[in-house]
Amino acid sequence: MSSEANQKGVPGASDAAATSGGGKSMDAIMALCKRRGFVFQASDIYGGINGFWDYGPLGAQLKKNLREAWWQDMIMNPAWGRKGPGGERVRCVPLETCIIQHPKVWEASGHVAGFNDPMVDDKETKQRFRADHLVGMFLFPDGATGFDPDHPHLRDTSLVMLKAATVVASTLGEAAQQVTDDAKSVKLDPRFGKRLKGVVLGTFEPGPVPKQWLNVEFHDGKAVPAALQVIPIDALTSAPAEYPSPFTGKPGTLTEPRQFSLMFDTITGAVRDEANKVYLRPETAQGIFIHFKNVVDSTRVKIPFGIGNTGKSFRNEITPRNYIYRSREFEQAELEFFCHPDESAAWYAFWRDFRMDWWKSLGLAGENLILREHAKDELSHYSTGTSDVEYRFPFTAPGFGELEGIAHRGSYDLTQHQTHSKVKLDYFDTTRGETLPNGGKKGERYMPHCIEPAAGLDRGALALICEGYTVDPSRPSPEILKLHPRIAPIKAAVFPLMDKDGLPEIAEKLTDELFAKFGKGGFIESDAKQSIGKRYARMDEAGCPFCFTIDADTVKDQTVTVRDRDTGKQERIGIDKVSVYLGERLGT
Ligand code: GAP
Repeated sequence: MSSEANQKGVPGASDAAATSGGGKSMDAIMALCKRRGFVFQASDIYGGINGFWDYGPLGAQLKKNLREAWWQDMIMNPAWGRKGPGGERVRCVPLETCIIQHPKVWEASGHVAGFNDPMVDDKETKQRFRADHLVGMFLFPDGATGFDPDHPHLRDTSLVMLKAATVVASTLGEAAQQVTDDAKSVKLDPRFGKRLKGVVLGTFEPGPVPKQWLNVEFHDGKAVPAALQVIPIDALTSAPAEYPSPFTGKPGTLTEPRQFSLMFDTITGAVRDEANKVYLRPETAQGIFIHFKNVVDSTRVKIPFGIGNTGKSFRNEITPRNYIYRSREFEQAELEFFCHPDESAAWYAFWRDFRMDWWKSLGLAGENLILREHAKDELSHYSTGTSDVEYRFPFTAPGFGELEGIAHRGSYDLTQHQTHSKVKLDYFDTTRGETLPNGGKKGERYMPHCIEPAAGLDRGALALICEGYTVDPSRPSPEILKLHPRIAPIKAAVFPLMDKDGLPEIAEKLTDELFAKFGKGGFIESDAKQSIGKRYARMDEAGCPFCFTIDADTVKDQTVTVRDRDTGKQERIGIDKVSVYLGERLGT
């Protein structure tokens, strides 16, 4: 159930704060992020602005580390040096493109025409949702027995079934989860409201039935079978008043679906004229496609190869929600990998598998991470395959939310830009075609296919924070952020136990040494104030993997205490061994 009530006055945080799952509370995670300087509400002192978030000192460094890990593993040393499906070295190059491009780019890409979602408003609660996300629960009338999943009534919502409840969900599975998990708050049409006892996933005779079949129990002991079905947009357009609001259960408060453009626009130049209208990019990918020819002509890359781009994208999301998960300004890291059409299926599998392994390598391993292959009917018309790497965020649990999409885009984008720009974007491959008498190849001209791993860095940062957030009641300060050392914004902390007896000087020397070796990837903290327990607790919350403490024994025997964030265990090592110790554990 979507709740838009603002929590603690933070616009756009509402859903995240309202829910918790997977045993972790988003309220607690968001409080830690603010307390330790990971994420701040944009324009905080003016009350915030819905859908925009800023990163504090630690968040900015965490995101930089994530971006650099992507850059290193996708461009500099793609796929960690794994060989491609044909045994070839994987080659990728970077690009940095403008947020504002020629408006025709977005006409060619389909964003001007297609980046519009039909939206419905609830006039009473002022909440807005995507029309194609309205799922109705249809009760079968009294006396109905036996069900045929192919029964025509399931497709014609105006017939025998009684509309009882609606929920907002992107899939029927999600809708089923919502109504069964949360039966009490399913907003029923008042005709049914008081009588409902519960909703359970039902199996009906005869034989197995699809998941979206339900059993609705009433207080009078009756169990009525029901089905979930996406309400067709034309049904909503012709009779919106018939459907109960997913927020209040009352019929008659929904508007007809209306188009809503997700692209932000602005005007270039001095004259504020529609003719000078431009758009803020909704994805970084198109900047790559339009430079395909420039890259081929200016470098020695040969197909297969990839072009990568990271940067800000903007979408005027209707309902920005769940903290930095769905915002209006966010950062993407996208690779467009160009290959011969015959090899595209193998490259698709290659990148899909590598991207999953990559997220695992940063600590998202385990049952919170899944790879979900899209069903045929979810694919764009030009795509032969798309998978999402999905993470179980506390606000999606027990379900998952998309972290990255890996799409087989065929030749769609290059063909579109070739058609709209009238510039030839095909590729002449000198390694293919008939073998000539001189042993060379005749060559083959073709439009390359493209595989696109498209990641969101904000969602990545959020997943890493949620995964790392741990509450261990056995520790004096129970909140710990177990960030992977590669991503951690603070790599180490050096503490003199007391602010006297020469300890601060020793600590400062060690800090300088560690900074020289590891400072490129993050902060080396040094702090002489407060009790040592408080200093450790602060570092645990900040995700710092190791603390080194200088005490009176250091002066005597040149050893320091090392404290491991994840276990809280302490051991003694020589001060001259600290760099090696840290280097081995940070993997640098
Ligand atoms: N070029 C393909 C493309 O942009 P997408 O699935 O729309 O595909 C890719 O976006 C990734 O960008 C998503 O998997 C997600 O991580 C991130 N993303 C998309 N919209 C977002 C939003 N409003 N807020 C934060 N991240 C978003």
